[in-house]
Amino acid sequence: MQRRDFIRTAAASAGALATGATSLEATGPYVNRGFRARPIVLSDLSGIAFNNGGPESAVERAYRGITEGEDVLDALIEGVNIPENDPTESGIGFGGLPNADGVVQLDSCCMHGPRKWAGGVGGIEGVKTPSRVARAVAELTDHHLIAGIGAREFARSLGFEIHPDLNTDNSRQLWLEWQRRVDPGHWLDPNARLQGQGRPGEETDPDVIRRNRSGNGNEDALAMLTPQQMRMRSDAYLSAGLDMVDEGLIPAHSFWGTINCNGVSADGDICGVTTTSGLAWKIPGRVGDSPILGAGLYVDNDVGAAGSTGRGEANLYNLSSFMIVEFMRQGMAPKDAGMAMLERIRANTVEPRLQREDGNPSFDVRFFVVNKAGDYAGVAMYGTAENRFAVCDENGAREETLEGLLEG
Ligand code: GLY
Repeated sequence: MQRRDFIRTAAASAGALATGATSLEATGPYVNRGFRARPIVLSDLSGIAFNNGGPESAVERAYRGITEGEDVLDALIEGVNIPENDPTESGIGFGGLPNADGVVQLDSCCMHGPRKWAGGVGGIEGVKTPSRVARAVAELTDHHLIAGIGAREFARSLGFEIHPDLNTDNSRQLWLEWQRRVDPGHWLDPNARLQGQGRPGEETDPDVIRRNRSGNGNEDALAMLTPQQMRMRSDAYLSAGLDMVDEGLIPAHSFWGTINCNGVSADGDICGVTTTSGLAWKIPGRVGDSPILGAGLYVDNDVGAAGSTGRGEANLYNLSSFMIVEFMRQGMAPKDAGMAMLERIRANTVEPRLQREDGNPSFDVRFFVVNKAGDYAGVAMYGTAENRFAVCDENGAREETLEGLLEG
């Protein structure tokens, strides 16, 4: 290829990544080796519960693309773009719940099984579809992971639209409510004020804390907190968020956000993508498991794929998705591999702050697992009838019940 033609092709690829054309045409066809499998797409519930006002959910869009011959990863990314762009899905992309400063920061990674490419972005701001930026990292760079301002500028340079704020009215209102709960001395509830309620809480008002301590009063109030007070403060942040889940203000699936979507083609080609706004009200800059290969996603085209939703730190500590694929390589079925990983997380959760009274984990984590033949499973630390996941195959899109390691 002439250098001038190469430059033209590369420029067209970059534009296509941002605007929606598939990347297959930009990178050349992948030649399959003749394996036959049952095409399937599976994801967490976000993959079927949201369609952004359109005719298809993520699993339906991805399955249609895979069965019509699209590159598997391209089809999956087109699928997850639906909840990423949907303002009513508050755990992913546009309208995802923001960090403690009220800024939406998104994580994503993707893996292309047959090409053995992967890319990720961590803490990216301003781009509604971080999965597309993750794919651009995989396809256009020698790197796997680009984070923070660098990720946003990387996206800008490729023609992605950079939005000043990815909050919706809903995500901003929920953040305000959370602020009122954790910092009632500064963030007031107008309705409570009109009713004559709403005294600042002594323990959370930095001015009160300052007055109650010795010193000249000029130091920054937070710098004066003891480690125990800091710990109480972070516990208060988390429990205020969890209270909002218990009260139905935040959908449980949105608190840790995330869609993981994995697919297998009739040729047995396997790809996966995970994308999220991460833990609601996180410390700014916190990156979860979703953009980290082996934690929130892993694919091996000879074996299968696994990805996760739920408490990302549990997957980072245990590299869960990688381990599930390795368990399948050793001969385990998808469900057994997922259950073995949940049991490992349970056994490794030894800190009392992360345990219920019975000693089991106080958090949930879920895995979506598929092998090369198209056999699949959705498993969770806690099994309840409401815990469901999404599947699309030759029988159409449907919800199925996640199998729990533990009851309740
Ligand atoms: N699993 C999503 C997160 O923890 O960020």
